[in-house]
Amino acid sequence: MTGDKLSGELHLTDLLGLPPSHWLILICHLSFVICHFPLAMDDELGTLQSEALAEIANAQNVIELDQVRVKYLGRSGLISKLSESMRSLPKEDRPRVGKLLNEVRSALDRAFADKSEAFAAQQDLVALDDLDETLPASPVRVGALHPLTQLQDQAIRIFRRLGFTMAAGPDIETEWHCFDALNTPPNHPARNESDTFYFPDGRLLRTHTSTVQIRTMVADVPPIRVIAPGGAYRRDEMDATHLSQFNQLEGLYVDKRVTVADLKGTLEYFVRELLGPKVETRMRPHFFPFTEPSLEMDVRLPGVNAGKWMELLGCGMVDPAVFEQVNQRRGDQAYDPEAWTGYAFGMGLDRLAMALFGLPDIRLLIENDQRFLAQFNS
Ligand code: DAH
Repeated sequence: MTGDKLSGELHLTDLLGLPPSHWLILICHLSFVICHFPLAMDDELGTLQSEALAEIANAQNVIELDQVRVKYLGRSGLISKLSESMRSLPKEDRPRVGKLLNEVRSALDRAFADKSEAFAAQQDLVALDDLDETLPASPVRVGALHPLTQLQDQAIRIFRRLGFTMAAGPDIETEWHCFDALNTPPNHPARNESDTFYFPDGRLLRTHTSTVQIRTMVADVPPIRVIAPGGAYRRDEMDATHLSQFNQLEGLYVDKRVTVADLKGTLEYFVRELLGPKVETRMRPHFFPFTEPSLEMDVRLPGVNAGKWMELLGCGMVDPAVFEQVNQRRGDQAYDPEAWTGYAFGMGLDRLAMALFGLPDIRLLIENDQRFLAQFNS
């Protein structure tokens, strides 16, 4: 034996140097190790399974259970380690040990699932223990239509009963629809940049819903009987009585021999239907470029607006100049002012809502405060 051999390294030459009897012993020994290693792993798996099951059973709470799960099934847990060491097994043993490993893994999975279910059930029991089924259920919060929408719907229903149909137009309008066609002179203050929102291309946010009168007449021949609820926009400073976006309801009636009497009768009926039989009305002469004559209608109702007159709407007989503008755009004489007459009206819904609901500040209508809105939940 050389000094090399003393170092403990085993060389083939050493084997050859051994007597054959020793060879046999060595070979038997090696084959024992090789044959029994897989069986050793079987045992190890068995032990691991029973230990894991015991630890799962002993876990006192979800946290402990999770610690056990990480120890065995975690990414670098014991099961993972064992499956890595499978690589050193002889090929023919791998399927069997692999199968065993999977069985252990699913047995543990099942045990973990069962145990966490048991914990959850236990928690439910604790929670239910405090439950008093005799307490009333918490109220379900039911939404409602915005007060303005409710008011608008009421107004629409009344006009529909009178045979009016719904019309609509865009909020972004041309200057022609908003002003020119409505006989508004070029120097009218409403056209001012300080009063109206203009887009760089010259279009604008409509300052009133009267634009829908024009759109309806350009599109359809008379007789016409429409209402058009919708948004209108003005560059007003917002305060307790002003919004820069508000809501109007427009009306237009064009037929043969329509008179101021029709206008007055219709509006008085509408107001009585909307506000009840105690309402008083009055008409005052006014000026609008698109009606001649023009009027304003005021209403007075006990208990509303401290019993004082409120301005409700503007109205009048459609100015023949408006019919002429429409004819020109249509390219016909469908609205021959000699043959047709009409009335129009436009009312602001926000101020009316303020008065009816006794609101101290118009901004309540756009703030979306649940405490305010919930009061209109009828
Ligand atoms: N457009 C008017 C405004 O916003 C209201 C109005 C007045 C509408 C008279 C009409 C009308 O249809 O005939 O102040």
